[in-house]
Amino acid sequence: MSSSKYEVMYTADQIAARVAELGAQINADYAGQSVVVVGVLKGSFIFMADLVRHLTIPVRIDFMGTKSYTGTTTSGQVQITKDLDRPIEGEHVLLVEDIVDTGLTLNYLKRNLEQRRPLSLKTIAFLDKWQQRRVDVKAEYAGFRIENKFVIGYGLDYEQQFRNLGDLCVLGE
Ligand code: IMP
Ligand code: MG
Repeated sequence: MSSSKYEVMYTADQIAARVAELGAQINADYAGQSVVVVGVLKGSFIFMADLVRHLTIPVRIDFMGTKSYTGTTTSGQVQITKDLDRPIEGEHVLLVEDIVDTGLTLNYLKRNLEQRRPLSLKTIAFLDKWQQRRVDVKAEYAGFRIENKFVIGYGLDYEQQFRNLGDLCVLGE
């Protein structure tokens, strides 16, 4: 809790620079199109807020909430706690995730959203813990590819704390 130790993995400045690059890439890739940006609550809220302010294409914002049934490991059973406000049929959809770890959450969300027949569906993840994948799923865009360490800050939590840290940090003992 308040006595937990953590050290910086990426500073707020490093993150801001990378998010600006991602925004520029999305503006280029979606040039002339509009996009529905769908944030997955809660972990993506800071990343999404920063990312969309770099976008110059027309954007509509929506959110989904998910909960996985977990002890300490992800079970792959995902529950939708908040659904989209509006249909996405015929729309370009960009799903915004905080982190792809086992990939089970993203896999579930992609299948769920594909059934709604978007014109396209891509994912941007702030972090990609690529070594951890249990299903073959990938984010088309990723901020940083990281090793298997538990990270907090910039929206990511440990037991609902630390989301407000500006830096991305590694949680220690
Ligand atoms: P999945 O294992 O790919 O389904 O990831 C599910 C969720 O686990 C992510 O959206 C995060 O909310 C959470 N998660 C995975 N790794 C971390 C981490 O290092 N820090 C904080 N949350 C994490
Ligand atoms: Mg999440």
